Amino acid sequence: MQSLVNPTIPGELRRKIVDARRVLVLTGAGVSAESGVPTFRGGGKSAVWKGMPFDVISSAGMVSRDLPAVWEWFDYRRELLKSLRPNRAHEEIARWQDRFEKLTVVTQNVDGLHQLAGSNNVIELHGSIWRARCISCSSRFEISRTQSRPDICADCGDRLRPDVVLFGELLPSGAFEMAAEAAAECELCFVIGTSGLVYPAAGLPEIAKAAGACVCEVNPERTPLSASCDHVLTGNAGEVLPLL
Ligand code: APR
Repeated sequence: MQSLVNPTIPGELRRKIVDARRVLVLTGAGVSAESGVPTFRGGGKSAVWKGMPFDVISSAGMVSRDLPAVWEWFDYRRELLKSLRPNRAHEEIARWQDRFEKLTVVTQNVDGLHQLAGSNNVIELHGSIWRARCISCSSRFEISRTQSRPDICADCGDRLRPDVVLFGELLPSGAFEMAAEAAAECELCFVIGTSGLVYPAAGLPEIAKAAGACVCEVNPERTPLSASCDHVLTGNAGEVLPLL
């Protein structure tokens, strides 16, 4: 994947990076594109999930109408992910834990690649494809990479569903609040690989900006968030982040 532009990093941004103690990173599907994970809406040269109207199959209504079809879609995505590895962007973000006094990684991705690259305490706004949740008692179960996934809740015997946020559903309790708190207290906020179309996640850079943080976007394409960012680095995350 070639970047469209190889951006020069402005001196002012470099100084911010040196001085910043509290940093927030918000990521979207684009950060995993160079690992081979399709994005939802395209952008850059990323592939999109094909043949799946994801806002229908990934909807709250679909869980009650046809849970097996929802599982089929998520099983398919998990199978694809099994062979994929974190890319330089995930690795760079994981390294930032040692670079900044407080780094908060907030992701909309459910693929677990930040954690696989070594990031700790990732706030997963949209859940994880590697967990199942009981539709009755909400008990959560890890899904192994090697064994078949559980179908039935070990606590109450009811059916399990993917532990991800579907269209029309609320975010996991506390996740956005924690992310918003980190946004309000950060000095530097990176918005990496997201189309900025899905709220409330897309509101985090606005919270950071309103609280006085410097906001920097990394994306091969402009987004609705670009105009309000202090810096826009145009290019692929895996190529731009190692330059910082
Ligand atoms: N590096 C950085 N950004 C990239 C790259 C790359 N190599 N390739 C593509 N992008 C950018 C695209 O330009 C686009 O702006 O990534 C973004 C991907 O946007 P979406 O597909 O809309 O993904 P995202 O913003 O994460 O979607 C938000 O929508 O359906 C849901 O729940 C799903 O979490 C997802 C949410």
